[in-house]
Amino acid sequence: MIELRLDGELVLASEGERLLDVARRVGRRIPTLCDHPAVEPEGACRLCVVEVRDRAEGPGRVVPSCLERVQPGLDVRTVTQEVKLVRQTVVRLLLRRAPESAALRSLAEEVGGKSSEAVREPTEPAEINWGKSSGAVWASEENAGGAGCVLCGICTRLCAAAGYDAISIQGRGAEARVSGPGGEPPEACTGCGVCARACPTGHILLAESGGVRRIWGRRFEMIRCGGCGEATLPRELAELESRRLGVTLVELTHCPTCKRRSSAEKFGELPARRTREGLSESGPMKGVAR
Ligand code: SF4
Ligand code: SF4
Ligand code: FES
Repeated sequence: MIELRLDGELVLASEGERLLDVARRVGRRIPTLCDHPAVEPEGACRLCVVEVRDRAEGPGRVVPSCLERVQPGLDVRTVTQEVKLVRQTVVRLLLRRAPESAALRSLAEEVGGKSSEAVREPTEPAEINWGKSSGAVWASEENAGGAGCVLCGICTRLCAAAGYDAISIQGRGAEARVSGPGGEPPEACTGCGVCARACPTGHILLAESGGVRRIWGRRFEMIRCGGCGEATLPRELAELESRRLGVTLVELTHCPTCKRRSSAEKFGELPARRTREGLSESGPMKGVAR
């Protein structure tokens, strides 16, 4: 175990543990935006900063706690004047990219200072480069929504971790945006929707109607559950995963309710069959002619 100080308190941590996880474990609240439990940290937003110094001496360093690992004797401060200023500046800049984002607005309230003033400023849609073929153009046309993208990279990392690697951050600076190769709708996309569910600003919109799912400017025919007819998975995704996992399409596309019902029926069938066939757990039932 490694011993370190966190806001003056002595704490124990495991080798290789991130400062963010240690802080959370002992009840400190550190705001984050680009951290996601399913993928490796990237340090993209800098919202989770803390101040660290060697306990002996030396100046403090402001570091992202999602990247920094524990060190013996480290002295970590989760709330200092510098930490507050960095967080407020980060939120203010992010709000310029996604002023409509409810998550960012609530982070601005949390970190206070000039970030919360930024929430009241008029929104600046002209600063957001939606790009001709980005998912958001399609989304805003069809769904009337979709906040800006803050380039946190959660969607691209999740997509790569799922093995699809369909999207990436293209371009730089104000031109940077997430899309398929060459700024086109991603051909490798399976329509799984993982990216849309995880996007902290709601930039990636996913719409489903009439047995068709649409995301990133692409259309996916949905396969229906063999039990109740509910649309469950995009056909492309189901076919790919059925080959990968070695299960049939029918098994894969049964909805959770029908799967539960089918298991319950199979389970419930056993005593009924035993009664029909005149069997008890240990042999023929009393009074039943064999
Ligand atoms: S689309 Fe969403 S998840 Fe992807 S980088 Fe932008 S804000 Fe992050
Ligand atoms: S919906 Fe497409 S882009 Fe999004 S995670 Fe799934 S495969 Fe990747
Ligand atoms: S959560 Fe640590 S840099 Fe974004």
